[in-house]
Amino acid sequence: MGNRALRTAKERRNDEFYTLYEYIQQEINAYLEFDPDTFRDKTILCPCDDPEWSNFTKFFAQNFELLGLKKLISTSYSTEAKKEKYEKFHQISMFETAFPQYDKEKAVTRGKIFTLTRDINNSKKIDYDDLEWSYLEGDGDFLSDEVKKLRDEADIIVTNPPFSLFRDFVAWVLEADKKFLIIGQIGMATYKEIFPEIKKTRMWVGVTCNDVDMVFEVPEGADVKKSDREKAARMGYVGNYTRQGNSCWFTNLDHGRRHAPLSLMSMSDNLRYSKHKEIISDGYLPYYNYDGIDVPFVDAIPSDYDGIMGVPTSFLAKYNPKQFEIVDNGTYAPKTLKHIAYKNKGIICYEKTDGEVVWETPYTVSERKAGNGLRLNVNGEPGSLPYGRILIKRRNP
Ligand SMILES: C[S@@+](CC[C@H](N)C(=O)[O-])C[C@H]1O[C@@H](n2cnc3c(N)ncnc32)[C@H](O)[C@@H]1O
Repeated sequence: MGNRALRTAKERRNDEFYTLYEYIQQEINAYLEFDPDTFRDKTILCPCDDPEWSNFTKFFAQNFELLGLKKLISTSYSTEAKKEKYEKFHQISMFETAFPQYDKEKAVTRGKIFTLTRDINNSKKIDYDDLEWSYLEGDGDFLSDEVKKLRDEADIIVTNPPFSLFRDFVAWVLEADKKFLIIGQIGMATYKEIFPEIKKTRMWVGVTCNDVDMVFEVPEGADVKKSDREKAARMGYVGNYTRQGNSCWFTNLDHGRRHAPLSLMSMSDNLRYSKHKEIISDGYLPYYNYDGIDVPFVDAIPSDYDGIMGVPTSFLAKYNPKQFEIVDNGTYAPKTLKHIAYKNKGIICYEKTDGEVVWETPYTVSERKAGNGLRLNVNGEPGSLPYGRILIKRRNP
């Protein structure tokens, strides 16, 4: 890989951005509203969190008594590992130079562990100023045996993990069968490692900031796309901030929103009164190669349709498992029609299981790709490929 390509790859996987305190506060409040004891007597682990930058550590430290926590553990990734991974996009921590345990070499090569259990400064309250810290043996990689032990000790894991390792992070949390609350992007729900967990309701979308832009703080000098910086500024954050579209929380902590049913209109009312002109003009288009209808807007899901409906991923932010069942991920769902591409003959054809060809079209890359997804039947003709769909079915029809 040439220097330029390598640089682009490193830039693309830059995970160095920090969650705002207010987002954490909002989300945690929603769990407390549902069950005030959600965090009581629990050990919380924030495994990608240097308290100098991480508002997760700050939040749980400052609210230690209010939440009734038993212990807070926060671990950070070494400066060297960050530098290796992100080149200049890492934040150098300077706070530790003031402590007796400061070690010039370890400060670069080791991760750190911060714990909070008691009032060490006799202030009569347990808070941020009572955090105790030491160097880890290794670099603080969440996959290391050292941090795995801390994971196993914890009851709830809460963080914004590195997006480039999101799949590994979720697997790491689930293999230990822990409660968790983490930030990602709604599209990650369709990753083939994650979707089955959502389908089995072993994990779901959180309460706030779902399917929207979230603003994050970035280190001084970080490369942020001009449009992201401007968008963050329009959202009220001027300076070292960026934004991530379609952000959301993923969790397996219970909350009230997932018990509230979506309020929906019947199909006939939608066809007459929907605010979406496409529904009024085209109706609900059936898929060409799957037995179901396309519902391009979550608020246009008909309340009385009993078959399978393909809905946008943003549905997950409104999903109540008692109201709907998640049947499959549209992209990977087995199709009613077989899609065969004959490059040498220059055609793509769709066959029924008995081999009857129901549609042929010239071979092009876009047609070939489209054949792997669900296609719409517009006025009896194959139409364009809709965005990723989740296939759902009404419960208790
Ligand atoms: C998206 S940032 C979020 C930081 C912090 N959790 C917050 O929300 O403000 C992810 C952090 O994970 C760190 N990180 C990257 N790879 C890691 C690894 N393998 N183990 C632990 N931390 C890692 C990055 O250096 C970065 O600080």
